[in-house]
Amino acid sequence: MLKPQSAIFQENSNQFYHLEYQLDPSYSAEKIIPALQHALTKQSDQINLVVAFGKRLWQQLNPTWTPVELEEFTTLTSPQGHTAPATQRDLLIWIHSLSHDNNFDQVLHIQNALSGIAELKLDLPGFTYHDSRDLIGFVDGTANPKEDQRQLAAVIPEGQVGAGGCYVLSQKWVHKLNDFNQLPVEKQEKVVGRTKEDDIELEGDAMPVDSHVSRTDVKVDGKAMKIYRRSAPYGSATESGLYFLSFACELERFSIQLKRMYGLTEDGITDKLIDFSDAVSSSYWFAPSEQDLARILN
Ligand code: HEM
Repeated sequence: MLKPQSAIFQENSNQFYHLEYQLDPSYSAEKIIPALQHALTKQSDQINLVVAFGKRLWQQLNPTWTPVELEEFTTLTSPQGHTAPATQRDLLIWIHSLSHDNNFDQVLHIQNALSGIAELKLDLPGFTYHDSRDLIGFVDGTANPKEDQRQLAAVIPEGQVGAGGCYVLSQKWVHKLNDFNQLPVEKQEKVVGRTKEDDIELEGDAMPVDSHVSRTDVKVDGKAMKIYRRSAPYGSATESGLYFLSFACELERFSIQLKRMYGLTEDGITDKLIDFSDAVSSSYWFAPSEQDLARILN
């Protein structure tokens, strides 16, 4: 049985690090594979490592099969002009643990191993903020699938090309924190669709059609389009936001939610949340099963 990369489901970390690399398409697989093998050697048993590939690099390393839905991200623009810009890259490495020190040792090791073949395009640490809140102050992850439901939502099932692997969406979002914090809490809650302090979903007429929850909690032909989110806040004194990171068994689940957020479905409703945060990067990835990853790297 093909197993997903176990670190995807390891949930006790509070320190995260996200690296996105672009490779020169002229480099051969013979040059890339030893560098990747070296980069992915763990520097500590305490850290969790996940690796995912953009479509171009995946097809270069593994020309015989590609998961059917795997595609490169294309820019989305809402009717009001908000954009989710495509910045499709080749390689995503997600490091997480309980220690920034250990993560950082691994980051230096990876950068050293890959610097000759790949350009670092995103270099972003993240952290757990209070009781798993975003920097806009709301608990993030509450409606995530739990226990066995996580794999059902995230892992491509047996019998399909890519079984045991996951489709992945990553997006760096920058919050407009001053604008959001100027809203009274009741209005902030209507943007998100949950209460702020105690994290309870708004009900009935209290739930606006353009809240973030209304736009992303979606069923297609009676089937809930569940995804497994592993996002982390990041921030400095001058810029803060969310590295949105999510895993799904169907890439369509991401694209449906994104279209609903960007007002690109028939109802034309745009997610209120995107008035208060800008996506500045977006890529789709494939995180192969443990076995497929080992096969590529050995
Ligand atoms: C600035 C970016 C974002 C922020 C701050 C944010 C924050 C939140 C918060 C606070 C919740 C409610 C609590 C929870 O259930 O986790 C939530 C729910 C959710 N978000 Fe986001 N989110 C962001 C972007 C996205 C994107 C890009 C997607 C999908 C492509 C997405 C998909 C979802 C889903 C599926 C839910 C659960 C809805 C439900 O079933 O109740 N989010 N998000």
